[in-house]
Amino acid sequence: MNSNDYTAVANASELKLNQALQVFYKQKPVVVIRTKKGLSAFEDYCPHRGLALSKGYIQNDEIHCAYHGWSFDCLAGKNKNVPVKNEALPCSLKAFYIQEKYGLLWVSSEEDAFIPQLDENIEVIALQGKIKAGLLNTLENFLEGSHTHYVHDGLIRSKKKARHPIQAKIIQNTNGFKVYYESEPPKGIVTQLLPKKLRQLYSVSTYIHPNVAVLEFFNQKDQIVSRFEAILNEEEGHTAYYARIFIHLGILNPLVKPFASRMFQKIIEQDKLILEAQQQNLIHFPEHKFYSDETDLVGTHLFAWQNQKQNQLEAVSNFCVYW
Ligand code: FES
Ligand SMILES: [Fe+2]
Repeated sequence: MNSNDYTAVANASELKLNQALQVFYKQKPVVVIRTKKGLSAFEDYCPHRGLALSKGYIQNDEIHCAYHGWSFDCLAGKNKNVPVKNEALPCSLKAFYIQEKYGLLWVSSEEDAFIPQLDENIEVIALQGKIKAGLLNTLENFLEGSHTHYVHDGLIRSKKKARHPIQAKIIQNTNGFKVYYESEPPKGIVTQLLPKKLRQLYSVSTYIHPNVAVLEFFNQKDQIVSRFEAILNEEEGHTAYYARIFIHLGILNPLVKPFASRMFQKIIEQDKLILEAQQQNLIHFPEHKFYSDETDLVGTHLFAWQNQKQNQLEAVSNFCVYW
């Protein structure tokens, strides 16, 4: 775990050949470039007068600034020409490392930084968007189930149905933590529509530091039924998400996929609405701290990881939630 771990900054298909795209890494603009020589990433800042280089254009493997036309080599970032002088100057762009993996572009300031292990399968339902909320609250929302009865009433769980005590356990590891929940009776349309033997599911939430949340559902034979990955990136005033959804229902997959896609879209919309409403209200109360008890352990653990206080956490914590 390192603070320079690779961050997903864009969908790989957003960056076409000979194009430059502005993305955000650690909340600062970075320009990512694709030429036939490969991918590159630089601080999105022209050393001359500071215009974003992403506003320029690519020609002959050089990026040309839109203001006074200074050009830079797309791979090394070296200045190649200053038109008003008709020669190059000894200046370069600040470079970042970039990788393409899981259909996403990942940026880091360190070459061998950690890149989270996600599902290699590309047969995926992919959704992306932006939520006007902070990273931490968005991560907590994706990882934590207590809101589902209210925010996703009838879809995932239900406000009205009787609750059952569910034992849960958080286990720390070097890159984050895992939360194991006991199985529970189906309480929303998502599980009620499944074949009978698949309705009693248990779930595992995984946090991969700094900004990935994974939710997995398993049947009683420990076979995975579905996996949801939320890869987040805090940008300017919002959190961008790349969601990847995998359904493992064998021959039922083609049938379930379109339905699952719409369902997850709806679920994320509901989360977006509540997160943006929360954010709007938090602006008025910067002096307040959240009130939490052990049923909020997922959030408490996330806050500790984000504040680099994960060493103070128990290796294993047991708790109970009424779901
Ligand atoms: S600001 Fe880029 S060339 Fe002048
Ligand atoms: Fe949610």
